[in-house]
Amino acid sequence: MGKVHLHDRWFEPFITPQELERAIDRVAGELKQHYAGKRPLFIGVLNGAFFFAAELVKRLDIECEVSFIKVASYHGTASTGKVSDLIGLNERVEGRHVVVVEDIVDTGRTLAHVMSLLAERHPASLAVATLLFKPEAYTGTLPIDFIALRVPNAFVVGSGLDHNGLGRNLPGIYRIVQSDQTASS
Ligand code: IMP
Ligand code: MG
Repeated sequence: MGKVHLHDRWFEPFITPQELERAIDRVAGELKQHYAGKRPLFIGVLNGAFFFAAELVKRLDIECEVSFIKVASYHGTASTGKVSDLIGLNERVEGRHVVVVEDIVDTGRTLAHVMSLLAERHPASLAVATLLFKPEAYTGTLPIDFIALRVPNAFVVGSGLDHNGLGRNLPGIYRIVQSDQTASS
């Protein structure tokens, strides 16, 4: 894994694919224990969660359903804080054990919005599973129930996460290199 250039910025290897897999194994084990016999409905938040949702459910040998929704809040490398409505949710949520699957929880604004819209539909229970969590950036009050890995407050890409559309396909996680560092190397 070497440095990669996406649009105007450099990114350096930060979490290896192997580390990521181990973290997903662990969180999948927690979910399996918690949801066996409850037929959970996993709702991935597109686009970023496609990777984690797939990696998660392929490890869950329990009865479950998987669906995806779309919201948008991020432009460039700073959260705009603007979030739109849920797009594409066709499943009946009432009475179901729902797990929202996220690529990353940063400020938590996107998640809070998604959770409140889903809560209005009266699920039997509502939880969140995220690949990455930035505790230093989080300003929310909801507990983040299932976390694969905690990361520092830096912009990251790979395994579903993008920088203006690029980088979602990178294995593992890459972290942004500050511009003054790239200038001197
Ligand atoms: P929040 O609303 O601030 O929690 O941001 C949530 C969304 O912003 C995530 O679902 C990502 O799409 C995006 N995001 C937040 N941090 C990063 C990052 O470090 N890299 C890429 N996307 C990010
Ligand atoms: Mg996202």
